[in-house]
Amino acid sequence: MNSIAKIMETMEYGPSVEDSGAVREWLAGHPRWGHFIGGKFTKPGKGFDTIDPATGEVLAHISQGTVGDVTAAVRAARRAQPGWAKLSGHERARFIYAIARTIQKRERFLSVLETMDNGKPIRESRDIDIPLVVRHFYHHAGWAELRDSEFPDHAPLGVCGQIIPWNFPLLMLAWKIAPALAAGNTVVLKPAEYTPLTALAFAEICAAVGLPAGVVNIVTGDGETGAALVDAKVDKIAFTGSTEVGRAIRAATAGSGKRLTLELGGKSPFVVMPDADLDAAVEGVVDSIWFNQGQVCCAGSRILVAEQVADAFETRLRHRLSHLRMGPPLDKSTDIGAIVHPVQKARIEAIVAEGIAAGAELVGGETGDGCFIAPGYLKNITPANPAMAQEIFGPIATLSSFRNADEAVELANNTRYGLAASVWSESAAVATDIAAQIRAGVVWVNCANLFDAAAPFGGMRESGFGREGGRVGMLDYLAPPPVKPAKAADAGRLSAMPHEGASAGGIGIDRTPKLYIGGAQKRPDGGASYEVKGGLVPFGNRKDIRNAVEAAAKSVKWAGMGGHGRAQVLYYIAENLSARAEDFARLTSKPEVDAAIRRCFHYAAQADKFDGRAVHAKAGHVTLVLPEPWGVMGVICPEEAPLAGFLSLVLPAIAMGNNVVALPSQQGALAVTELYQVFDTSDLPGGVVNIVTGPHADLAKTLAQHDEVAAIWSTPAQRRLVEAENVGNLKATWTPAPRDWLGPQAQGVEFLDHAVQWKTVWQPYGA
Ligand code: NAI
Repeated sequence: MNSIAKIMETMEYGPSVEDSGAVREWLAGHPRWGHFIGGKFTKPGKGFDTIDPATGEVLAHISQGTVGDVTAAVRAARRAQPGWAKLSGHERARFIYAIARTIQKRERFLSVLETMDNGKPIRESRDIDIPLVVRHFYHHAGWAELRDSEFPDHAPLGVCGQIIPWNFPLLMLAWKIAPALAAGNTVVLKPAEYTPLTALAFAEICAAVGLPAGVVNIVTGDGETGAALVDAKVDKIAFTGSTEVGRAIRAATAGSGKRLTLELGGKSPFVVMPDADLDAAVEGVVDSIWFNQGQVCCAGSRILVAEQVADAFETRLRHRLSHLRMGPPLDKSTDIGAIVHPVQKARIEAIVAEGIAAGAELVGGETGDGCFIAPGYLKNITPANPAMAQEIFGPIATLSSFRNADEAVELANNTRYGLAASVWSESAAVATDIAAQIRAGVVWVNCANLFDAAAPFGGMRESGFGREGGRVGMLDYLAPPPVKPAKAADAGRLSAMPHEGASAGGIGIDRTPKLYIGGAQKRPDGGASYEVKGGLVPFGNRKDIRNAVEAAAKSVKWAGMGGHGRAQVLYYIAENLSARAEDFARLTSKPEVDAAIRRCFHYAAQADKFDGRAVHAKAGHVTLVLPEPWGVMGVICPEEAPLAGFLSLVLPAIAMGNNVVALPSQQGALAVTELYQVFDTSDLPGGVVNIVTGPHADLAKTLAQHDEVAAIWSTPAQRRLVEAENVGNLKATWTPAPRDWLGPQAQGVEFLDHAVQWKTVWQPYGA
């Protein structure tokens, strides 16, 4: 007989299956789906079945979107956009609010549908996914209401193409659609081929609340439909998915003028310090990698534990692992549901097998019939093991240890990704010290996988760029206040000639200016110069760029100097520039020198004021949204206004703590070479500003390809090249619109916004 004690020990439950009657009735009424275009569903076309991965049951037939379907949807969105943007913020807010409210009323239905289409446990879709969807629409109804006062003179981008994955189908839809609509854009969204059903149910909700036709369009299909959307006449592409497809989209949109945000893969570290609360940390692992079967881009998939507590931690982890229940996703007591699709299951198995072949030992992780894989982890795994580097995207973590805090940080950052991290320590000083050193867009201190509409989410490095959520997420759907356009000047072709000094056989005094690298004047590698008005300047080459990037990467003091310290240097530059104003005016003009000095004052002022904020996203936590420098930035300067244009770009970048490799105006470079002395006498640490003169096209290519460069600002002339060449490490790129570089529109927060990446740090607060 079962005693209560025995029940408590075994924790055996009877089945407690959520009722799927309403969903089944709905599916029976909709066996075949078309697309949702211009407020109506199209006639279903050729396509594929979407299945319940837990049972293999066919749920519905889905249409494969063709180029024609995508074009029709983009047209409908284009037609609807001016009307939607013309509504007042309040009117848009009412629609978004109505969407939130309707989803809230249909929470149970949508949770069941999501679980059936995706395989995730009902507990998760009911308690996490759908409530977060509702929260996202409410939050963005608020941004619609406040757009004009919070983002004065900003405008919507137009039509946004949005492509989402299958791991959080309706939540990813909400992350994409809510901010886009709040800003005044219209959208064409393509859900993932494995999980289109909640997007189609969402289309019904749009129709039910009377959203104007064409504001939201849903086109279903696979990667080909996605690629057609990328190529369509849209103003922005927002993508969440694999890094591989992210790269393809970067290449496909290069030079097209489309705005782009990418939220890609991860291999996020989960760091357990020696003084961590081990039981809490083990629960953190459950929330990290065994949440949603590990199919989470920000899953804490690399568990790194302090050597001193590694055994104790693993004992607890194994115990907890043995109590996780894998089973039917609709059962309310299921912890681990089904993997989304057999293809994905095979992919997970292949990576785990590779890991085992390379010497790792698998604990748990047995594969079941159908789409089931039990939770587990790989131990005795070396950093070189492929399973340690690749995103497994399944319920299998890696477990390894570290000796001290420095090694923890080194291992945590030993990845090409930078999406998220989780840090566990009972000492606030230790936890925040580690959190500050980890290069990731989101860091959770003593918590894991928390999300909120007010807390920006997004990656660094190969995890992509752009943020979703909160104020900074809104900026990715808005165009900055318009500038008075100015035509970008063209330098024409430059031709290299032997260096003056070299031609004099080393006897004469070499008065040709040099490059400025690591705080010193350096001869160009090729020993050549080119002619500009007023003299000769070095003809830099790709080796010079590499040296400059190396010098910039090595100079680590600057970011740590703080806003005040950097402001002091900028004021000092202004002072030294003023002292030599006449020399500079001879090379440029007096108004240009005045503008250059104003830039120094402006960014000295901003250095300690352009800052982040704290948001109270969840009770018991404070979420810090912090601007962080990119690290090494490449800056290609405008041809016109050589001095003011150069400083208008370089100063905001360095004010935020970046080190810069700058390519000055090709024809106006002489004036910039005069700055070397100003920098030398202004306490600017060597390596913060590096200057390579020469042909932009050649130099920009090397700069864009270099993996140490994290972000690059381009000119319109180099934009296509820079965007096409940066696919290696997926640099963030920005091309400021040509403007009067002497005027007030050449300075301000627009520049600072692009000089930082946002890091969201979740901390316990008042818990
Ligand atoms: P995927 O990147 O191929 O699919 C994501 C979305 O992009 C889907 O809607 C898909 O139809 C679309 N797509 C595919 N090729 C496209 C193209 N050339 N142009 C435009 N859109 C395209 O991801 P997949 O194959 O489903 O999963 C493979 C791996 O990607 C996973 O194992 C995981 O490692 C990673 N992944 C990461 C996600 C994240 O949230 N960061 C989400 C899904 C997958």
